[in-house]
Amino acid sequence: MLYLPHPITNEQQVGDSILGTLCAPYLPQWLDQYPTAPWGNLTTNNSDATVVGDIPITNVTRYYEFTISRGRISADGVLRDVMLINNQFPGPVVEANWGDWIQVIVHNNISNPFEGTSVHWHGQVQKNSPWEDGVPGATQCPIAPGHTYTYKYQAELHGSSWYHAHYSAQFTAGVAGPLIVHGPSALPYDIDLGPVMLSDWYHIPYFSIVADAVGTNLSLIPPTSDSVLINGRGRFNCSDASYSSSDEWLSSNIKSNITWTCVDDAPLSSFRFQAGKTHRIRLMNHGANGVQRFSIDNHNLTVIATDYVPTVPYTTDVVTLGVGQRTDVLVTALGTRDAAIWMRTSAPGGEPCGGSSNPETLAAIYYQDADVTTLPTSSSSASYNSSDCSNDVLTLTTPEFAITPSSNSWTQDLSLTLELNSSGIFEFMVNGQAFHSDFNVPLLPQAAAGNLTFHPEWNVYNFEQNTSIILNLTNNMPLTHPFHLHGHNFYVLAVGEGNGPLGATSEGPNGGPGFTPGATWDGTVVNPTNPMRRDTIIIPPNGYAAIQFELDNPGVWPFHCHVAWHLSGGQAINILYKHEDIPALPYGDVAETCVDWEYYTNHTVVDQIDSGA
Ligand code: C2O
Repeated sequence: MLYLPHPITNEQQVGDSILGTLCAPYLPQWLDQYPTAPWGNLTTNNSDATVVGDIPITNVTRYYEFTISRGRISADGVLRDVMLINNQFPGPVVEANWGDWIQVIVHNNISNPFEGTSVHWHGQVQKNSPWEDGVPGATQCPIAPGHTYTYKYQAELHGSSWYHAHYSAQFTAGVAGPLIVHGPSALPYDIDLGPVMLSDWYHIPYFSIVADAVGTNLSLIPPTSDSVLINGRGRFNCSDASYSSSDEWLSSNIKSNITWTCVDDAPLSSFRFQAGKTHRIRLMNHGANGVQRFSIDNHNLTVIATDYVPTVPYTTDVVTLGVGQRTDVLVTALGTRDAAIWMRTSAPGGEPCGGSSNPETLAAIYYQDADVTTLPTSSSSASYNSSDCSNDVLTLTTPEFAITPSSNSWTQDLSLTLELNSSGIFEFMVNGQAFHSDFNVPLLPQAAAGNLTFHPEWNVYNFEQNTSIILNLTNNMPLTHPFHLHGHNFYVLAVGEGNGPLGATSEGPNGGPGFTPGATWDGTVVNPTNPMRRDTIIIPPNGYAAIQFELDNPGVWPFHCHVAWHLSGGQAINILYKHEDIPALPYGDVAETCVDWEYYTNHTVVDQIDSGA
């Protein structure tokens, strides 16, 4: 193996991204030179965009342009194949004020080999623009290689989120970045440190992992990640026994012209603190599998938002984030002006939590007069149970703006299992059926046209004229599932842990591994007048979750586990209701994506080995 002289360049590690360097700018309280907040008198406790409909009118559009292409970076020191937006990992920061419109031109420049793509704006509800949700097989056809699609939608919710490719598990290859909407805050702060993106990381190209994850060998499900990153940077020990330069992790076309494959001590992310000031940190888990536990040595974290929902502030020393989840925290810098401390994130807990084989990574926080040429020496002050990977208890997390779920609801039970299908392949099933999309026949145009006959593997749940739905999920396997709903914030009525032993107990109904049945919900609601709201919730191993949402956004909305490999394995349904109220196509032309994709697939065989989403 050849080692590169240290340090590797920024370009070799993360392409053109400057996130996690001391050159990354602090973010403003809002964009442009408004003398006062552009959202006027709206605050976190007098407004709600999803149910009540409060959204400021700014008449401003923010323009972005993305080119997605293949590349290779060494985020943790190990060179691997990736896909990047504008040659940056993570992708560019998309920023807007609450109520602005966001327009993003997306060019699919993925070649050698070609692949479709799409971009989803995680957590934005797309209330008047369900067509812009960016899910191939649901709202559009994939953007064909060499083609372009322009997304346009309003920033209806404010806070911290991310966008990502929604084509197969492409987002784990690097097609993901922060999506920040400036709006009112539950507490004031001095400095916005910007996105702090947390993820696990694999060395193998995503397509090979998917092939294992939807395979016949239970020991490869789920695959274990190699390391953990903060803003795209981490470390891997090149002499690690599990690492070999002949591994399949580098494709042959890339292997042919490289002179090095691994470097120890890759640069870690670094951030600036100002002594005495309060800093806002926007945490997001954009990983593939693992639950992240985030902390800062010797500093408390005050939570002010979970996903896009401002919460009544509370203080903790560790924040737990499943894939897709975000938490905004405020941190008051208590050290002296020359202090340097570690920020750390960890994906522990082994298989049940999607833990990594190298679970922890660090990032340096330098106060204004600190010596930035030396690394901090602080040690962790956070304490938590690393094998319990649930979100904070529901009694702690109450929304700033109280909403009582409507009482007139209908309950749908959903049973999550891991089973063998008739071809001997493991599938993540919901009520006995794994999801598999048809890229050429997206669901939304069909539903809008009144064509309501769907194939069973499209997993469409049509709730018709209902006004409010409870989803009662039972997790019959010893794995964590961060479930995400498109188009809505949901109330979390209850979440529970399983108490059965972890591991297989008997053969499942279709000859699958037959894991311990999950615990079930007893119908009790935590905080019935103002339950926690968010868009992604961790369902604990062998546990349950009951969520509820109002059917106030007609469209087709995926509800899926955000673990990339479980989603690839089919752990998704599509929620449809009030199809005659689906808004007409307002902007762009998603139909054009299908013309282009149809032409492409008439000339190329697309190897869709997974669910597609
Ligand atoms: Cu982050 Cu289906 O979404």
